[in-house]
Amino acid sequence: MKKRSYLIYAAMLGGLSSMASLAIAQKSTSDAIAEYRAALQDGNPADLNAARGEVLWKTPRGPNNVSLEQCDLGMGAGKVKGAVTQLPRYFADTKRVMDVESRLVHCMVTQQGFKADEFTAKTAFSSDGQRATVIEDLVAYLYDESRELPISVPQAHKEEKAAYARGKKIFFFKGGPYDFSCASCHSQDDKRIRLQDLPNLTKPEPAKAAFSQWPAYRVSQGALRTMQWRLYDCFRQQRFPELQYMSQTSIDLITFLGVNANGGKMAAPAIKR
Ligand code: HEC
Repeated sequence: MKKRSYLIYAAMLGGLSSMASLAIAQKSTSDAIAEYRAALQDGNPADLNAARGEVLWKTPRGPNNVSLEQCDLGMGAGKVKGAVTQLPRYFADTKRVMDVESRLVHCMVTQQGFKADEFTAKTAFSSDGQRATVIEDLVAYLYDESRELPISVPQAHKEEKAAYARGKKIFFFKGGPYDFSCASCHSQDDKRIRLQDLPNLTKPEPAKAAFSQWPAYRVSQGALRTMQWRLYDCFRQQRFPELQYMSQTSIDLITFLGVNANGGKMAAPAIKR
């Protein structure tokens, strides 16, 4: 963590005069966050994750000592540009709808020889003070290669339609100690929890903005966070049982969010509070 927070401070010092920092300290926190983001957007620390991810993608690794350059993310072996804009999607080789992370892990297992059970929320998401995980760096790289491209999550295959339908159901499913659904926090305009704006994910524009910005570098955590992490953390906020990494539920929800965001422009990895 120290190393990354230093980077942020360095970026802040580089990007802002000390006068401006002082002014920020005196503003409301949400204004300050907005200015902070604007000041950092040209020096998003996620660039470092993406740079490391590119090296990881191209370096022979794992028991089989091969790179990921033959990994098929849906556009053919080794094709990276644009691939994430069409995920989740159905893959004939696994006969499943897969999101970015599950497809990446699939390649790491089938091509590089890693063991499937090595990949859990514990190993995929960096914890406080840890350096980014291999998954986080690789995901940052894949999204960085699709910046500005239109989101076009497919709905042609019946499994893709089924994933969307289940995802929609889960989004509106109420349960847990507070009887919350995703919609409880994400289906009204101008809602917030403490300082955090809660996007209305049932409307096209906020849905596009939200989907287009993940993965994101979270300044408050000094870490690159993936979409799987985003949903894992919302499950926690919803007081639902722990969301299993790459589970069908997670992929269905990402499909729902992605299809609703179709037509938006990829802007990930973004930088977030
Ligand atoms: C108790 C309220 C709550 C519930 C329930 C909840 N979320 Fe969230 N969600 C949040 C908060 C808080 C944020 C973070 C906002 C921030 O940090 O700016 C967030 C952020 C998000 C984002 C990213 C939005 C963006 O623009 O960055 C997505 C996507 C999301 N939630 C999806 C879901 C889904 C899907 C569910 C149901 C599984 C869900 N949320 C349930 C509170 C909730």
